[in-house]
Amino acid sequence: MSMAPRKTPLLDVQDLSVTFRLKSGKVVDAVRDVSFSVMPGEIVALVGESGSGKSTIGHALMGLLRYDSNVTMKGRVQFETRSGNQDLLKISDRAMRKLRGSELAMIFQEPMSSLNPIYTIGSQIAEQILAHQKVSKSVAREQALDLLSRLGLPNPAKTMQSYPHQISGGMRQRAMIGMALSCDPGLLIADEPTTALDVTIQAQIIDLLKTLQKRTKMAILFVTHDLGLVAEIADRALVMNAGQVVEQAPVMELFNDPKMPYTKALLSAVPRLRAFRRKSADLSGPLPVEGT
Ligand SMILES: Nc1ncnc2c1ncn2[C@@H]1O[C@H](COP(=O)(O)OP(=O)(O)OP(=O)(O)O)[C@@H](O)[C@H]1O
Ligand SMILES: [Mg+2]
Repeated sequence: MSMAPRKTPLLDVQDLSVTFRLKSGKVVDAVRDVSFSVMPGEIVALVGESGSGKSTIGHALMGLLRYDSNVTMKGRVQFETRSGNQDLLKISDRAMRKLRGSELAMIFQEPMSSLNPIYTIGSQIAEQILAHQKVSKSVAREQALDLLSRLGLPNPAKTMQSYPHQISGGMRQRAMIGMALSCDPGLLIADEPTTALDVTIQAQIIDLLKTLQKRTKMAILFVTHDLGLVAEIADRALVMNAGQVVEQAPVMELFNDPKMPYTKALLSAVPRLRAFRRKSADLSGPLPVEGT
């Protein structure tokens, strides 16, 4: 065939709805008919104020809501796995467990909640590697050490031996990123990964994610309420309000020419974006991408 192959999305979400039924009988439509896609290697930001449904989307994609009988999910979540295209809402629990932590990984706002306090950082990363790769324990530990070295930790060998409470918040977040990336996922869902950190460390973690993304070419769904971060990291952004995606556009376009009143309001509420706008006014065309 002479036609160039059209790129298929890595993730294609169609009309996703998530409803929680509360004990009181009240029904919360947390996510309503949301559709979007993520191309391989693309960084897509999911922005919106608190309670707009961002984390719920992440949890739905990761299969974390499937065991909850008070949750109803509708729609299609097509994910291009290494063994073909699958609907993440329909695959078995077993298949989901296999994907999670290997092709699909998530990092959370508070790394302490996803690290086990009674195991060392090294053993937790090695364990994660062993769960998805047929390698010996010593090889897994070597890989864990190698990964920690690449995460910019000052003393990776010492960090390997440390328990989560013995290292700083920024180091814990690095370790968590290490765990998430240990199996080279095609898609990383990052849910407010730097909100709990101070500004300097936040910048370091964002730089780290950008560097790792360039190297691994993974796609990232970056959940945040911080539009400054969106400008810094994302190719495209989805703006959420009350469970719905109200606008989606390449970041530059969204910032320079927001279409929806909600997006305009969101943008005008962020003073630090003015600096970005000034900077972007000097550039013609899309955001510069290093290495191209
Ligand atoms: N397990 C749950 N049970 C019941 N309601 C829930 C549950 N999880 C989320 N919700 C509700 O769903 C809505 C969306 O919540 P979600 O956590 O996805 O928002 P968010 O955009 O991630 O907010 P934030 O920026 O504060 O993290 C909210 O009304 C929330 O109260
Ligand atoms: Mg959230």
